[in-house]
Amino acid sequence: MTPAKKSGPPPGGRKRTPAATGRSSGGGKAQRSGSGTTRPSQPTTPPQWPDRPTVDVHDPDGVRLQKLLAAAGVGSRRVCEDLISQGRVDVDGQVVTEQGVRIRPTQTVHVDGVRIQLDESRVYLAFNKPLGVVTSMSDELGRVDIGDFVANRKERLFHVGRLDADTEGLLLLTNDGELAHRLQHPRYGVLKTYLAQIPGPVPRDLGRRLREGVQLDDGPVSVDSFKVVDSRPGKALVEVVLHEGRKHIVRRMLAEVGHPVLTLVRTRVGPINLGDTKPGKWRNLTSTEVGALYAAAGL
Ligand code: URA
Repeated sequence: MTPAKKSGPPPGGRKRTPAATGRSSGGGKAQRSGSGTTRPSQPTTPPQWPDRPTVDVHDPDGVRLQKLLAAAGVGSRRVCEDLISQGRVDVDGQVVTEQGVRIRPTQTVHVDGVRIQLDESRVYLAFNKPLGVVTSMSDELGRVDIGDFVANRKERLFHVGRLDADTEGLLLLTNDGELAHRLQHPRYGVLKTYLAQIPGPVPRDLGRRLREGVQLDDGPVSVDSFKVVDSRPGKALVEVVLHEGRKHIVRRMLAEVGHPVLTLVRTRVGPINLGDTKPGKWRNLTSTEVGALYAAAGL
């Protein structure tokens, strides 16, 4: 099949360069900017572009790119071939438009700027942690922990962040250490959404106070958003969104403003919703969700 010569701009806005095909050593034509600034005194030998990475997309032990993309759920092989021809696929940051290239599943591939995880050994689970369960893969005190719910899985899973034993809800589990690390890093400010039951009534200015910030023992905290979901005379249900990961942060913050938490559920982490996964159950994230998580983590 003839590879498409022309590719559109990368839709995801990521900086991409044409991949080294391994079959032509020149390849400089597409790289030239045509700015017309070359002066006669400059050398005429081809520049070396020392900072240009070379990506091997002809690994004889590799797997065909369209096959890997199709297996990852991007679309049929035909659709994936079209995506490649259209210049919408990059491998390790370099656009690949040639058909039939072979890569390793551990290489980094994006389609339209969205990371596609090709490595089938990587696992991404959305677990609904039940009340009373300790956030640990193996609790030293022998209490019921997360590890008990995924004991039949052979991968070494990490939990992304923590929930108190008396908080239930979404906890991401993965064996992708880099992603797990980044999702917890304050630098990426991944938002977490909680539903808290608090004693009512909720004063009108509570949202404003929480947005402006509350002083705690270990420093100030503020919410990214707050809304009252339901309000009854003695009890209210409020939704709190924040990018903080400090211990007991939601409980401490609401207690500080006079509304100690009665029950707490985490319903969302970044782009991932708890959905209807029941307490004690987990589901595999879809490839779209994994791509969205990668984007949230700046990968
Ligand atoms: N904030 C809390 O207070 N508890 C949690 O489990 C998570 C956030």
